[in-house]
Amino acid sequence: MSSGISAAYSSRAAEYTSLFGSISSTHTDDRALVQDWAGSLDGKIIDAGCGPGQWTHFLHSLGLDAEGVDLVPEFIATGRKRYPDVRFTQGSLEQLPTPDQSLAGILAWYSVIHTPPGDIDEVLGEFARCLMPGGGILLGFFEGDAVEEFPHAVAPAYFWPLEEMSVRLQNAGLIVVSTHFRADPGVRPHAAIVARQAKP
Ligand SMILES: C[S@@+](CC[C@H](N)C(=O)[O-])C[C@H]1O[C@@H](n2cnc3c(N)ncnc32)[C@H](O)[C@@H]1O
Repeated sequence: MSSGISAAYSSRAAEYTSLFGSISSTHTDDRALVQDWAGSLDGKIIDAGCGPGQWTHFLHSLGLDAEGVDLVPEFIATGRKRYPDVRFTQGSLEQLPTPDQSLAGILAWYSVIHTPPGDIDEVLGEFARCLMPGGGILLGFFEGDAVEEFPHAVAPAYFWPLEEMSVRLQNAGLIVVSTHFRADPGVRPHAAIVARQAKP
């Protein structure tokens, strides 16, 4: 499945970058949420499924230790070229290139949208493995009344109810801190969840 996603994004990486690859194309509320969330963290943050790296650079520009990770080589090359001071590494959500409990934060902004529902627990479990005690995750995704596939422009993707995604995060051992929802005209409903690893 991941190889299909990688091929689909590889062939459209330049198009994706020009349409969505700049921080100015993101919603002001999302920038505020990411900034607020990241400001509460102390240590390294991985932007998991970073695409062309605009959020990784945003975190870096806030003075944070941020690294972008993505399956797609074209995105990694784009990120390195556009933001030479920022680290980008090819890797997968299922096996992040980082030791257990090594991260203060994981930003997963629209990167699990293509993960088949049967695989989501594996990915959230991987995020939980990487977070240090007290570490935080911020997940952004398309919200829907049911877990349901839809034909996203690049590759099949899934709507998730906020409640269901919250339960999945809890099942991975994480504590849900806050949930966010937005329904703007003409675009798919958006949701975000802030969760954290328990402290000892
Ligand atoms: C909708 S894009 C979001 C990109 C970026 N986070 C943003 O907000 O623009 C989804 C991204 O997740 C990446 N992705 C999807 N599945 C992945 C996986 N299993 N491992 C690593 N990256 C993955 C894709 O390559 C793509 O860059």
